[in-house]
Amino acid sequence: MRQPLVIGNWKMNGSSESISALLSGVVAGLGESDGAKVAVCPSFVYIPSVIAQLQGEAIEVGAQNVAEQQSGAFTGEISVAMLKDIGCRYVIVGHSERRALFAESDVQVARKFIQVKDAGLLPVLCVGENLAERESGQALAVIEAQLQAVLTEAGAGCFESAVVAYEPIWAIGTGKTATPEQAQEVHKYVRDFIARESKSTADKLQILYGGSVKAANAAELFAQQDIDGALVGGAALSATEFVTICKATN
Ligand code: G3P
Repeated sequence: MRQPLVIGNWKMNGSSESISALLSGVVAGLGESDGAKVAVCPSFVYIPSVIAQLQGEAIEVGAQNVAEQQSGAFTGEISVAMLKDIGCRYVIVGHSERRALFAESDVQVARKFIQVKDAGLLPVLCVGENLAERESGQALAVIEAQLQAVLTEAGAGCFESAVVAYEPIWAIGTGKTATPEQAQEVHKYVRDFIARESKSTADKLQILYGGSVKAANAAELFAQQDIDGALVGGAALSATEFVTICKATN
């Protein structure tokens, strides 16, 4: 069966001091937790120190983004080879904030996904609809188009050794969480879409929910058959909240 996975997306938050304290709280709180696989995704500049502080712990580290190119004259970009070199395991690609605020297209997201796969790291592909698309009944069509763009660019089998995160944009940072039923409907749709190509890949695929996941609502979300964990934003910046969410997968 699928191991639960909880990833903290710290976004552009933290300092050396606050991150060190946050990690100490998370490590202490999780203890020898044998439930969920846990990962944190700091801003690039803090990844090495976070990896150093987590040495010997079961908590993995990831990045929030990556260049679509392999290397070269791309000022300010970070390559997947660099992320692999410093010990990253996961890379979030296609987060709605990057799609909306930095105009990342489906094709660019797909190319980043391929870079991550080719480097042997685990891409966490974010998909999700905005409020207008949800209210007009277009949510599933939007999400299918985002998945299809990756499948078209990356080819058959690309979702083997990958993670998908459903993040309804209207739930991100708003405190307005999708209901467990709303989330389950989309997660099942994602799994069924992947199963059209490979049932075994679909059965193994970890599909995370993201969008105002809190300690108070995590358990009811995780009780849904096709919700395998969470991609957590704001609540990941609180050790107590994040540990409670991780333990809610048990
Ligand atoms: O990537 C996770 C993030 O978008 C969710 O944010 O603050 O609603 O948990 P938040």
